[in-house]
Amino acid sequence: MSSIFGYMKNIYVLVLILTVISCENIKKKKNMSLVNIEKEFFGKTSDGTDVSQYTLKNSNGMHVSVINYGGIITSWKAKDRDGNYKDIVLGFNDLSEYESSSPYFGALIGRYGNRIKEGKFNLDGVEYTLAVNNGENHLHGGLKGFDKVIWDIEEDVNESSASLVLSYLSNDMEEGYPGNLDVKVTYTLSNNDELKVRYEAETDRSTVINLTQHTYFNLSADLSRHILDHQITIYADSFLPIDSTLIPTGELKDVEGTPFDFRELKRVGDDINESDRQLTFGNGYDHCWVLNNQDEGIRFVASAYDPLSGRLLEIFSDQPGLQFYTGNFLDGTIKSKNDGIYDFRSGFCLETQHYPNSPNEKSFPSVILNPGEKYDTETIFRFSTR
Ligand code: GLA
Repeated sequence: MSSIFGYMKNIYVLVLILTVISCENIKKKKNMSLVNIEKEFFGKTSDGTDVSQYTLKNSNGMHVSVINYGGIITSWKAKDRDGNYKDIVLGFNDLSEYESSSPYFGALIGRYGNRIKEGKFNLDGVEYTLAVNNGENHLHGGLKGFDKVIWDIEEDVNESSASLVLSYLSNDMEEGYPGNLDVKVTYTLSNNDELKVRYEAETDRSTVINLTQHTYFNLSADLSRHILDHQITIYADSFLPIDSTLIPTGELKDVEGTPFDFRELKRVGDDINESDRQLTFGNGYDHCWVLNNQDEGIRFVASAYDPLSGRLLEIFSDQPGLQFYTGNFLDGTIKSKNDGIYDFRSGFCLETQHYPNSPNEKSFPSVILNPGEKYDTETIFRFSTR
């Protein structure tokens, strides 16, 4: 009798184990099919090149769409505190608008993100001249920066993440920069609702490099609404004051007692209209913060919280600087993707990078890349709700 009971017990335990295993497998398969990349035609460039859009999806429902023109993030769907997924980045529906009137919406920026004074720098005794495309300065890589080139794409999907690997070979002296620069940028969307952006590059001649990502966020998902109610943290004890052309003066200024103190969560609009020379020069915030703990590698650097929707964005990076730009050049003349307009301060950028004009400021961390060295940096955008 007892042996029959023992036998039944064993069968029962076996069935239980098999059920658990098959449930796990179903769960895994379900996740695998949910984590994927969908490719579709996005448009043709003015010179006739086909551009595709790749939508990275994770198992929670987050979507990030990227096109191979400029490596641009065209749409990013993140959930609010009630679980509604909505698009929280500024952009366009048509490729022609990206070509004709984009203020770098969602784009990869290179070779040098941000400004270089008067488009000139000296490297190893040679003076290099770049395009002057922003007043008297060079901005975001020049006339045809990485935001306007066609990238090669490879897809890579596994059960917990979807990656898009973008590659581009920037030829020696392209836009005036020395060296054949082999660039690889990998966007990885994981099931933790994180988008990791890894930038890698190698050169065959000494050059300067400063790559970044130029997404304009509006976490409310109402893309024509101003961003002044967002609450921001920037983990930095100092920032770089600028001159009237937005070039850093070279000084590092303590944020204590200034409108630039974001060490504790602060509403963007709280101090933006203070009478302050730096805010006048930037027409709001358009400055580079000197991030703390620069020798720690990847660490928490900034966050943005929208109390309306409950969306929280946290940024982790190994970079020394962060350009916080409050969309001060948006003026309502550009049409939004939802038939509205992109009004003054309807999006903000948190661009992890090296300091502007570093090639001309010997006291700033070096942006020089030599042959045999590897440029390899990483920034993570993590979403959650509160
Ligand atoms: C950067 C700059 C701004 C502006 C935008 C693009 O963030 O710092 O001054 O040029 O790009 O409009």
